[in-house]
Amino acid sequence: GAPCPQYRDSDCEELVCGQHVPKNYLRMLTLPRTHLFLLGVSLVLLAAPILLAAGWLLMDSHYVRYVEWCLREDLGDIQKTYMEREDSHFWVAESEGDVVASVSAKPRSRCIDGEHTRELERLSARRHHQNGGIARALCRTVLCFAQQRGYQAGILDVSVGNLEGQRLYQSLGFRESYRFSSKK
Ligand SMILES: CC(C)(COP(=O)(O)OP(=O)(O)OC[C@H]1O[C@@H](n2cnc3c(N)ncnc32)[C@H](O)[C@@H]1OP(=O)(O)O)[C@@H](O)C(=O)NCCC(=O)NCCS
Repeated sequence: GAPCPQYRDSDCEELVCGQHVPKNYLRMLTLPRTHLFLLGVSLVLLAAPILLAAGWLLMDSHYVRYVEWCLREDLGDIQKTYMEREDSHFWVAESEGDVVASVSAKPRSRCIDGEHTRELERLSARRHHQNGGIARALCRTVLCFAQQRGYQAGILDVSVGNLEGQRLYQSLGFRESYRFSSKK
């Protein structure tokens, strides 16, 4: 008679997968829970870019309002706010004719631990000029200015999420004294 064909691994694949996979896959696609899962995934995929874009716009509008507030508060008239008083000042760092960083100092009426304080504000360095020591140099200038005018302590606000700022201020000897939440 004819020789008995040998059963090979590929026969098993053909006989099992070849039949069961298409049939069961199609059946799975008709299940309500599959529909629910696919709907959920589609919604997440659709919602993620919308949520990311909305977050960006929200953050942007927050900072636009913050800039408007700064301009109204003091930066709109630096001369009047800082330069006409002996105990206030505004410094800029310049590179190739551009302002690349700034800081300001003004007295703060608050007395902390019995010491009259000077407030350091508006410290900022342009992104491409960061990490070159400009902010540290500006802070030292403010501290020197304050010492020469007899102030015993400096005070500043830094947000909890601003780790770069916190590291800088800690390395200059500032210590956290209190936390508050701002609705500004
Ligand atoms: C915070 C900021 C002013 C630092 O300016 P800078 O010119 O890059 O700072 P410097 O190069 O003088 O660095 C001084 C110190 O700041 C800290 N620092 C600066 N950049 C940092 C970073 N990317 N990650 C962690 N620490 C950082 C370090 O302690 C650094 O000291 P080191 O160089 O010995 O490690 C700058 O990142 C900035 O303008 N940020 C946006 C505005 C802001 O947050 N202002 C402070 C508001 S209170």
